[in-house]
Amino acid sequence: MTVHLVGAGPGDPELLTLRADRLLRTADVVVHDRLVGPAVLALAERARLVDVGKLPGGPRRAQADINRLLIEEGRHGGTVVRLKGGDPYLFGRGGEEAADLRAAGIDVEVVPGVSSALAAPAAAGIPVTHRTVSAGVTIVTGATAEDSSGVDWAALAALGHTLVVLMGVGRAPELASTLIGHGRCPIEPVAVIGSGTLSGQRTVRTTLERLDRVDVPAPATIVIGPVAALVDLPEWLPTPPASAPEPDPATPALTAVATATAPGGIHP
Ligand SMILES: C[S@@+](CC[C@H](N)C(=O)[O-])C[C@H]1O[C@@H](n2cnc3c(N)ncnc32)[C@H](O)[C@@H]1O
Repeated sequence: MTVHLVGAGPGDPELLTLRADRLLRTADVVVHDRLVGPAVLALAERARLVDVGKLPGGPRRAQADINRLLIEEGRHGGTVVRLKGGDPYLFGRGGEEAADLRAAGIDVEVVPGVSSALAAPAAAGIPVTHRTVSAGVTIVTGATAEDSSGVDWAALAALGHTLVVLMGVGRAPELASTLIGHGRCPIEPVAVIGSGTLSGQRTVRTTLERLDRVDVPAPATIVIGPVAALVDLPEWLPTPPASAPEPDPATPALTAVATATAPGGIHP
């Protein structure tokens, strides 16, 4: 009895690991989150799909219910995949699911995934560390931006290196005022990357003091720090559908996309 706890990556199926791809193609059951897109789920051709996604602000399926369902499916046998966006152990409650499964006597295989915390910035042409610009990066949840529970915002502000904030767009004003209140520079560069690596990817470049004016629909990742102002690096080009014509080799696609991104500007 094994449940495979699999990272689905940030969205584009080309960013799945080989192991994730193989498991999805042979799965009997795939229990997945809301953020796992249709292109990834389509790989699980022979599987029964169970959506246990939680809508932001909407009805939530209790984590305990999800854990119970995984235990039931694990006991039932076959190839059971628990598919989570990005990496299953980064803000995905994967650790809790694995612990409950193990306590119920079910083996767990963890298949790491490409996290949106790194993939979304990279896809927008933003290296989260860059020599002489930022020597470190902290990944943090924005879900507690307005209070001190769980995150030491004063310490984060003092670090002075790149901050990558997940689950932060809904609390962008609190996030900005908390960091500025703890000494972060109001005109520090910020980038908000929505739907990273998906066809609807959108990047907005701004500053900390203007973050409250940014309107990028979730899922979005916020990058705070001087790296967010780097604009001349190549961006992710979504994988074209198999039937799409080959790009014209005379067209400098990467350069064109990169130069369309001006500081403070918006590109689709
Ligand atoms: C519950 S966390 C799970 C993170 C996931 N385990 C990972 O490693 O990417 C969900 C958050 O990830 C970020 N996110 C997920 N997919 C994204 C994407 N395609 N583009 C930008 N941000 C994304 C958003 O901040 C979203 O609120």
